[in-house]
Amino acid sequence: MRSIRIEQYGGPEVLLRREVPVPEPRPDEVLIKVAYAGINFMDVHTREGKYAHSSTYPVRLPCTLGMEGAGVIMGAGDAVNSHMQGERVAWCISWGSYAEYSVVPATKVAKLPDALSFEQAAAAMFPGCTAHYLVHDAGRLRAGMSCLIHAASGGIGQILIQLCKRLGVKVFATTSSDAKAHIARGLGADHVMMYEGFADVVRKMTSGKGVDVVFDPLGLATLRGSLRATRTRGLIVNYGAVSGAVRDLDPLELGEAGSLFLTRPRLADHMADAATVQRRADDIFAALLDGTLTIPISGTYTLDSVEQAHAALEERQQIGKAVLKIG
Ligand SMILES: NC(=O)c1ccc[n+]([C@@H]2O[C@H](COP(=O)([O-])OP(=O)(O)OC[C@H]3O[C@@H](n4cnc5c(N)ncnc54)[C@H](OP(=O)(O)O)[C@@H]3O)[C@@H](O)[C@H]2O)c1
Repeated sequence: MRSIRIEQYGGPEVLLRREVPVPEPRPDEVLIKVAYAGINFMDVHTREGKYAHSSTYPVRLPCTLGMEGAGVIMGAGDAVNSHMQGERVAWCISWGSYAEYSVVPATKVAKLPDALSFEQAAAAMFPGCTAHYLVHDAGRLRAGMSCLIHAASGGIGQILIQLCKRLGVKVFATTSSDAKAHIARGLGADHVMMYEGFADVVRKMTSGKGVDVVFDPLGLATLRGSLRATRTRGLIVNYGAVSGAVRDLDPLELGEAGSLFLTRPRLADHMADAATVQRRADDIFAALLDGTLTIPISGTYTLDSVEQAHAALEERQQIGKAVLKIG
């Protein structure tokens, strides 16, 4: 079968087109014929080696890239009784979706409603479940609260805006261009701004108080500003490090900024069992089908054009979600 593999970490040049055997499922895995794979910034981090020493996400070389997809179950290991052949499914945080077939632990696989396309499911599973736990479990947002969403036109940012507005949360948002700001406003963000001076703008617009929760996927470029934009005893959810890692934060800074709470959560710890995976997926899929959530697909690539997809992400050209059409 065709696949995109990495045998060493690095730039787009380490993406290799490889013919490999169709993988055999282990006892607790299912074999899936992949229709679409999702493309995410996490794929870029994986390619660069950022998970080489991770125990949450133990990526080991050689690795077939891609950790989100949708397709049809073709077979299952002996211990699997939760899924059957021919079932339409989607999954995330299991590597190998940039390929014609993938083996995935059965506990990470969600069943799809008949009305949801593979394309939409592959675009929604990872960022949808991420935004879902960030809003409901990490941020614990409720009606009347306020938040700041950085990189608001990004894959996860766009969903965060919509889930927050659905709850009745006031949304402040940052982006890097007028075109991206236009997207964030269109999704319902109340106040959209550029990064420059964002903490001052947020404080001014909240009568000097700051917001209840900040969602920060950027890290180095924004985290200290995020502390300033948060209210006393508020929460910063630093869920990524797209702009670089923060390596020098003294906990005393949290005290000085107003007894703040800082968390660095991971999706894997919020998708711990099959029931949770299906519950989060069902919530996102239902919202897509009833029209209260939209995840526009703004880039469709193939196994022959993966490099372009990664370049669009790294050059900040990708607005929203991109997918790989495979099957
Ligand atoms: N902790 C978790 O559970 C979890 C789960 C899923 C993903 N993540 C992480 O969340 C982060 C965002 O993922 P995503 O897929 O939603 O990405 P994305 O938002 O679609 O893309 C990243 C965005 O970051 C902004 N950005 C700022 N500085 C950048 C830089 N130096 N290079 C590239 N982009 C930059 C860009 O928006 P502007 O141009 O508007 O700034 C860009 O659109 C990634 O680090 C990912 O690994 C974490």
